[in-house]
Amino acid sequence: MEITITENYEEMSKVSAQIIAEEIRKKHNLLLGLATGDTPIGTYKELVRIHKEEGLDFSKVKSFNLDEYLGLAPLHKNSYNYFMWDNLVKHININPENVYIPQGNINDPEQFCRWYEEQIRKLGGIDLQILGIGSDGHIAFNEPGSSFASRTRIKALVEQTIEDNSRFFDKIEDVPRFAITMGVGTILEAKKILLIANGKKKADVCAKFIEGPVTSQITATALQLHSYVNVVLDKDAASKLKRTDYYNWVRDNKHLVQKEIGR
Ligand code: F6R
Repeated sequence: MEITITENYEEMSKVSAQIIAEEIRKKHNLLLGLATGDTPIGTYKELVRIHKEEGLDFSKVKSFNLDEYLGLAPLHKNSYNYFMWDNLVKHININPENVYIPQGNINDPEQFCRWYEEQIRKLGGIDLQILGIGSDGHIAFNEPGSSFASRTRIKALVEQTIEDNSRFFDKIEDVPRFAITMGVGTILEAKKILLIANGKKKADVCAKFIEGPVTSQITATALQLHSYVNVVLDKDAASKLKRTDYYNWVRDNKHLVQKEIGR
């Protein structure tokens, strides 16, 4: 894993948006895996800026979102469909037909999950997957105990996630108890992964998933098994890491690293 520690949320957003923009410039028809939540809002804002001011072209990009609440229609204001349109899709020149987001109110969600996996495979697999991390260590909605081999499926949310996400709803009872989510196995098949996190509330879990043992009890630790993961944190989220000096040295001497491994 390559760990980049930034000064604050704004810098985390800019650095992560640059990584994504770079991949789109290298491959115009990139298959981009997208996340929702508070964390990537700044990254998406910056991508919109790069699109508008520097002409970053999304016209051939295809996107696949990680997850959606089961039961919420795409137009529901708390749905992840709504979030994506509001924060990214409507501001850029991506073809709406190329935007894949699980539909929470689909008639047969299990059949939908199989179809979703099939589409990802058919289109050549995800090139770059963006991830946030839950305070319980989940990636997408792969709650503690999710198999590292899991695929897109319906998952019951744990109490902690329901509490964390209740801030977006009028009352906690309104938070759906189930979600459609890509599996850990689906995520691990992405060619590259970019995880972003900010704030003191993510410090414990970031230390655990980066420097702790691999365990399905913290599904983000599965990323230790992937060969190309970029982690971009702000100072607060990185505050409990033990090997900060090493990560900073690598960041500051990246030109030497790049020469060594040819990236
Ligand atoms: C959302 C998702 C979740 C979030 C995580 C962090 O699509 O997959 O795993 O990334 O719950 O959420 P925030 O960013 O709101 O702290």
